[in-house]
Amino acid sequence: MIAIASDHGGFELKKEIMKHLEAKGYALKDFGTYTTDSCDYPIYGEAAARAVASGECERGIIICGTGIGISISANKVKGIRAALCADCYSAEYTRLHNDANILALGARTTGSGLALKIVDTFLSTEFEGGRHARRVALISDIEDRERA
Ligand code: RB5
Repeated sequence: MIAIASDHGGFELKKEIMKHLEAKGYALKDFGTYTTDSCDYPIYGEAAARAVASGECERGIIICGTGIGISISANKVKGIRAALCADCYSAEYTRLHNDANILALGARTTGSGLALKIVDTFLSTEFEGGRHARRVALISDIEDRERA
């Protein structure tokens, strides 16, 4: 199951991504927003992030105008590594090296054709492990120190 969420700025791109992924057979859970009415991105970033952190969803895709506010919000949830990507190389390497579990996109900064390619790259790339697992564990250590 893939968690997906956006604010109003990302709503249209979210719909396009959902259509694209549903056609490929992915199961999606939409955590809102459900209209283009102005709303607050942290609410939707947190909802998707909690679904990924709990294991309910394997990965997440979150979208706002720039992708920045919603990624900052999602990254406040323990266990979340949300990566804002505007190119396929970053999407590939954030999976290979950072084991990113959420992809953030900016609907006002990334065209929909490129966004769909970024999504496909993110979902089809596995974590490389090895020395990168040590580094990802060090990220978790930071979280633990912060919450101690
Ligand atoms: C909403 O206008 C906009 O601030 C939001 O979509 C996002 O870009 C925030 O980072």
